[in-house]
Amino acid sequence: MSDERRKIMRVLSGETLTPPPLWLMRQAGRYLPEYRETRAKAGSFLDLCYTPDHAVEVTLQPIRRYGFDAAILFSDILVIPDALKRNVRFTEGHGPVMDPIDETSILALKPEGIMAHLAPVMETVRRLRQELPVETTLLGFCGAPWTVATYMIAGHGTPDQAPARLFAYRYPKAFEHLLMLLADISADYLVAQIDAGADAVQIFDSWAGVLGEKEFEAFAVKPVAKMIASVKARRPKARVIAFAKGAGYLLKTYRQKTGADAIGLDWSVPLAFARELQKDGPVQGNLDPMRVVAGGKALDVGIDDILQQLGNGPLIFNLGHGITPQADPDNVARLVERVRGWRN
Ligand code: CP3
Repeated sequence: MSDERRKIMRVLSGETLTPPPLWLMRQAGRYLPEYRETRAKAGSFLDLCYTPDHAVEVTLQPIRRYGFDAAILFSDILVIPDALKRNVRFTEGHGPVMDPIDETSILALKPEGIMAHLAPVMETVRRLRQELPVETTLLGFCGAPWTVATYMIAGHGTPDQAPARLFAYRYPKAFEHLLMLLADISADYLVAQIDAGADAVQIFDSWAGVLGEKEFEAFAVKPVAKMIASVKARRPKARVIAFAKGAGYLLKTYRQKTGADAIGLDWSVPLAFARELQKDGPVQGNLDPMRVVAGGKALDVGIDDILQQLGNGPLIFNLGHGITPQADPDNVARLVERVRGWRN
């Protein structure tokens, strides 16, 4: 293993590196002209995810351009509902759509055949590990059960995931069943990614921020803790980053309760609080993606604040959420240069 050269792996083991290594959530995406070109060739978005030639290509694009310290497998969190035959589509301008699930169909969900359906993703991971520079960490990922369940219940994105919150109060048994089923499937999926060559994995709980205190414990912490325990029991050396977007003060015990090695922070997390969280281990984040759209001073100041406040502890520099299609690729180059030039 060449882990010593993979800076992100070193930070995930608790080291402080100056300057900190970096990657960006959604670093392969529509802000890059070369992504749009491959996307047009691939046909549908899911075809892009399931065609290793294309998925490898778009994963590598931001690495070639910027030399990020990690490549993240190109796929989507919604390949799990797709493998569960929920008729997932990505429609132009509307985001993801699928058949909304009800109580009866939750109890009828069959996990058979899922790994066979996801075999092209593993092929992508294997090829990526061969093609990436040795110093580049390869990240696998999946959605957290709560976030994936919100899309499965509503059948599409919503501003506050009200349909899933309502469903959870009305049908607690079916909802618990769905979360635990997703936790088991997702843990197997992460283990398969690790076996195919992923160095570490990130669990995206992008909708953790809409949950009340008790629900955060039951729907966000519990299933993610189950997944991480399952992954670590089988692959003890695996490293896990858990990103609970919008969780705020509830992040205080999130690392301890889930067993994550590192926690991802969104841009609403105050840097003084982030420093407290960093005393317990590595943190990742947390630049507002809109600063990358704005560029100039707004970008520089945002970067410098994070480096000053968090750069003297274990930090993986990242955005607080995915980069948006409006971001200017030149601003990303400026970001990389500024982070790489930092020396306390
Ligand atoms: O570069 C990377 O980060 C890897 C690829 C990646 C994608 N989606 C590609 C994608 C990752 C890690 C994701 C995760 C994902 N997908 C999440 C969690 C992180 C987050 O952003 O909150 C969620 C909630 C999804 C579900 C999803 N996929 C939505 C809501 C959308 C539509 C919104 C949008 O940005 O278009 C997608 C589509 C999607 N996934 C695109 C990409 C590059 C854009 C689709 C396109 O190219 O047409």
